[in-house]
Amino acid sequence: MSQPLSIAVVGSGYVGLVAAVCFAEIGHHVICVDNDESKVKMLREGRVPIHEEYLEELLKRNTTNPVEFTSDLANATRRAQAIFIAVGTPQSKTGSADLSYVDAVASEIARSIDSYKVIVEKSTVPVYTNEWIRRVIERNGVPKELFDIASNPEFLREGTAVVDFLHADRIVVGAETERAGTLLKKIYEPLTNGSYYKKADAVPGICSEKNPPPILLTSTKAAEIIKHASNAFLAMKISFINVVANICEAVGADVEEVAKGIGSDGRIGPKFLRAGIGYGGSCFPKDVAAFRYVAEQLGVDFSLLKEVEAINEEQKRRFFQKVRSALWTFRGKRIGVLGLSFKGGTDDIRDSPALDIVQLLVKEGSTVVAFDPAAEARSKEVIPPSDKMLYVDSPYAAAQDADALLILSDWQEFADLDLKKLHYTLRYPIIIDGRNLYDPVDMIEHGFTYLSVGRPSLFHARDAASSSRQLP
Ligand code: UGA
Repeated sequence: MSQPLSIAVVGSGYVGLVAAVCFAEIGHHVICVDNDESKVKMLREGRVPIHEEYLEELLKRNTTNPVEFTSDLANATRRAQAIFIAVGTPQSKTGSADLSYVDAVASEIARSIDSYKVIVEKSTVPVYTNEWIRRVIERNGVPKELFDIASNPEFLREGTAVVDFLHADRIVVGAETERAGTLLKKIYEPLTNGSYYKKADAVPGICSEKNPPPILLTSTKAAEIIKHASNAFLAMKISFINVVANICEAVGADVEEVAKGIGSDGRIGPKFLRAGIGYGGSCFPKDVAAFRYVAEQLGVDFSLLKEVEAINEEQKRRFFQKVRSALWTFRGKRIGVLGLSFKGGTDDIRDSPALDIVQLLVKEGSTVVAFDPAAEARSKEVIPPSDKMLYVDSPYAAAQDADALLILSDWQEFADLDLKKLHYTLRYPIIIDGRNLYDPVDMIEHGFTYLSVGRPSLFHARDAASSSRQLP
């Protein structure tokens, strides 16, 4: 293993906490700072506030080199060689990123710098943020030679964030000085030289001793743009396939076949071509808007991103219409819902298309009976339980006596349901799948009317008469 370094991570949200735990996992001494005392207390007790595979396990496992949790940023700054800023950058009213937390943290760090530090932006920020951080630190009287700013964006997906960190496609480091670049290279060395993967208890994934992740050294501005452009590009891929799905629907073709055909071209690639109910989460919607705003500020026409956003909104509306086309009216209907999180494998409901659809159903007078393996508690804060919104503890309880069952998040367990049981549990065997988890032919053979996205709608014989007549 390489030499351990002292690292502070400011912010214990998805990005900060995962980075802190993974830096400790690869051998560094890590102090994780958060100004929320109750969160610090919880983390000190080994309890993790988010649903993330491996996170709790790694936090508990590294007892010889535990992550230290504190609210004392000044002390952490003095002890660390590198300070990673991983605080939130929420979307403001204009669509731009609100950088006030980054600003406040930078000022506080500046007041405690007493030896050379590399201050690393890890939060998703617009280009030029590193310049602003530099200014803030200089304004607080810190001499130039005592610090460098670097940009080290993350490409972690919620739900698989630990694996994505330790088995990255690439590690991007933007630095303007050799000193800062060298320190960051040392931090990631256990991954880039492959030594981490030799550990018997290393988290498994695509990288190995022989196939370690590459590190890309860029300017700080390029690193900032890489982050925004990556998320915007992935969101664009999703909107693109969703429009293609709508074309497939119109002509009776199968978007899964089309996606396979497109994705087999090495220049396009198979990932992020899953049609569905549109993208959500804390990143894509916010980052597409922020990148569009950056372009606008720079006088660059990036209206392509406006289209990406508009298509995404339309996709939810279309799905809702599909439900209407199967049920005719909503008032008085009991609708089972599988999935409330913005995707499977996470408890995060921020900008979840599933929740948007549920809210529309309730507004139209339906009773929604919802199950989500992890997002129930968070969903209840947005849509409190009532006689119109029931939360249940299994997929079959959601389906019980329902007029139809909707699949809204792609949890693996929703793809493995006992179809026979589901069939007799539902009042009407109608499944409207916003994530294409089932094979349409298999579903019709099991006696369901099955509607999905970008694939021919298959109506069971009982419904077939109405389906052959296109009702508005
Ligand atoms: C995304 C990026 O994938 C990460 O690389 C990035 O680090 C992260 O944002 C971030 O900026 O922090 P995440 O938001 O966790 O990660 O989720 P994704 O797995 O990318 O999914 C985003 C949304 O797109 C979900 O609603 C998902 O259901 C949807 N999606 C994804 C599709 O509809 N189709 C696909 O083919 C893929």
